[in-house]
Amino acid sequence: MSRIEQLIGAMTLGEKLGQLTMTAAPYAVTGPFVAGDITAGIKSGAIGNLLNLYGPDTVAKTQRLAVEETRLGIPLLIGLDVIHGHRTLFPVPLGEAAAFDPALWTATARAAAREAAADGVHLTFAPMCDVCRDPRWGRIVEGPGEDPFVGAAIAAAKVAGFQGSNLEGIAACAKHFAAYGAVTAGREYASTDISARTLQEVHLPAFAAAVAAGVATIMPAFTELGGVPMTAHKELLTDYLRGELGFEGVIISDYNAIAELLHHGVAADLAEAAALALQAGIDIDMMAGAYGSGLPIALERGLVSLAQVDAAVRRVLILKERLGLFKDPCRGAGVEAAEMVAQRRVLARAAAAKSAVLLKNDDGVLPLAKPHRIALIGPLGDAAEEMRGCWAAAAPMTGCVSVVEGLRAALPDTKIDHAQGVTIDGGDTSGIAKAVTLCDGADAIILCVGEAANMSGEAASRAHPHLPGLQQALCDAVFATGRPVITILFSGRPLIVPALAEKSAALLAAWFPGSEAGNAIADLITGKVSPSGRTPISWPRATGQIPVFFGERNGGRPFNAADHYTSKYLDSENTPLFVFGHGLSYGRFVFSNLRLSAATLTEKGAVTVQVDVANDGARAAEETIFLFTHDKVAQVTRPLLELKGFGKIALEPGARGTASLTLRGTDLRFPGPRLTPWFEPGEVEICLGTAADRTQLLTATITLVAQ
Ligand code: BGC
Repeated sequence: MSRIEQLIGAMTLGEKLGQLTMTAAPYAVTGPFVAGDITAGIKSGAIGNLLNLYGPDTVAKTQRLAVEETRLGIPLLIGLDVIHGHRTLFPVPLGEAAAFDPALWTATARAAAREAAADGVHLTFAPMCDVCRDPRWGRIVEGPGEDPFVGAAIAAAKVAGFQGSNLEGIAACAKHFAAYGAVTAGREYASTDISARTLQEVHLPAFAAAVAAGVATIMPAFTELGGVPMTAHKELLTDYLRGELGFEGVIISDYNAIAELLHHGVAADLAEAAALALQAGIDIDMMAGAYGSGLPIALERGLVSLAQVDAAVRRVLILKERLGLFKDPCRGAGVEAAEMVAQRRVLARAAAAKSAVLLKNDDGVLPLAKPHRIALIGPLGDAAEEMRGCWAAAAPMTGCVSVVEGLRAALPDTKIDHAQGVTIDGGDTSGIAKAVTLCDGADAIILCVGEAANMSGEAASRAHPHLPGLQQALCDAVFATGRPVITILFSGRPLIVPALAEKSAALLAAWFPGSEAGNAIADLITGKVSPSGRTPISWPRATGQIPVFFGERNGGRPFNAADHYTSKYLDSENTPLFVFGHGLSYGRFVFSNLRLSAATLTEKGAVTVQVDVANDGARAAEETIFLFTHDKVAQVTRPLLELKGFGKIALEPGARGTASLTLRGTDLRFPGPRLTPWFEPGEVEICLGTAADRTQLLTATITLVAQ
């Protein structure tokens, strides 16, 4: 008999439920309440898993309680939200999505996993796979942006990075399953209610990709979907994830989510809640205490069976075994070599530079020629702590490079004067005059404005996703000098900033760049690195446009300026301020000669799509090429553009090259009239270019044919 079966055979019910319980240690606070002393619970076997614990010594001490002082000596599984780095921070996920670089996505996850493993962590609650089209939702910062194809690509890259090929890294957790990003009105924890088609087309692909990549664990969302809380959603957790996708790993509830089934109104007491969750397929109860106290009663009432409990315990023990915890309960924990830490900072700097999106650069105001004096204005110019963004894991408050520090290091001969003008969301304008005075005689004016790190992330929805506080007044005063202004915008979402975009000569969306923020920004500002980020999300012009996204459908009365009775606003354009994919570099790229390797495509076939690219600019740069399709006539309506691929080409000034992307027949499947996979013969438009702007794309047509 295997070790796991022997253990299950020897366990009391209490010990089994302990293996299905995950309790928060106090080293990070990620929920509305924390547990008390956990020592007794570990020793009795009532707590088999922890979250929010790290540090090699602390982990070793705690792990000893489980291994040496419990009856069966089963090691603890220790999880932490290592979302965009552990001690070294990479850009927040939405920012890193803008890099459109799967190798980078994998590399930062691998680096974070190594650093977290050295700190005794076995499991990260990442990647967050929630596609979202509503910038009011604070958690948009944790995800891939608006597009399901990007979501799937990131999910696969991150799982590979965190876990390695055989869980030699740390276990990953695809969360929050599913459609959390569709919360009503962008309000955190609100319910979701979307069509089965939208669920399939938009919200499930990233999870399917995570499962295909071998993700070890999955976390259901706090939210309900069309009347069924995800924590109790048997159809999606068991029938779809385990049945259809073949997921064999562990499903971990979100923080206290099982107890919240009472608030949802589907369970009358904790025993019912626990039974619903177990029946639905949840193995581990995070912080609700529902399995420990509710399942014994649910068993007595016959709501669940012991065999169901055993199946969940088995999955948890298999994960512990796969992670090697039985052999080495503190696997990988210890002090890292200084060189390793230094290498991670190099990666963090490159990642931050690749993630920033140059939204505007009039008259080539960037890069800066060596200025004598820079006026650096705004509350985010000297704000090292804010650079961390949300979910900063174990990163120290003081570990990030601020913009002013980065610029001073990059430009030692330049005088850099800083004034914050206003605070991020305060009501005091008395500092504006001094800030404006500082602009007098400066060779360059750089405005650093945006959100605070805690204005996005969990429980951070905003009904007015504009520049907070009185920052717009500061910006207006600086613009009134009539000088060209370079604006660096920090945010965890696409902010609604039409005035800022119009009046800034250059606008760089830096998101929250992480540990190396200031150095990476200096690399871009000085031209050491050409910007290459592309926005993974549309930037609305107005809150009333939300959701605005490129994958919309045509409708029966698409906008036509000459016809009143068409789809439009009376007071805003339909288009976003910045479209998905938009982003400038210091090069100037020209695309021509779009061609396909074949005129027809079968479901099992593939076609190569090529385009010639020239860099007619004066600087070396990298361009991103997006491959979209549009199925013009099908039995169900198709989006106007669907992303099917992306790639990059780097060219020296004056150089030419060819970009090649592959389109497979299976990429053109969609959920058919009955929502089953559908491949419909007929013409499909291939649209290629640098952003989801139909007016700028090169197009060709391919004919889909039956096998
Ligand atoms: C969040 C999860 C997170 C968990 C553990 C919850 O509040 O929704 O994303 O992984 O806490 O910290």
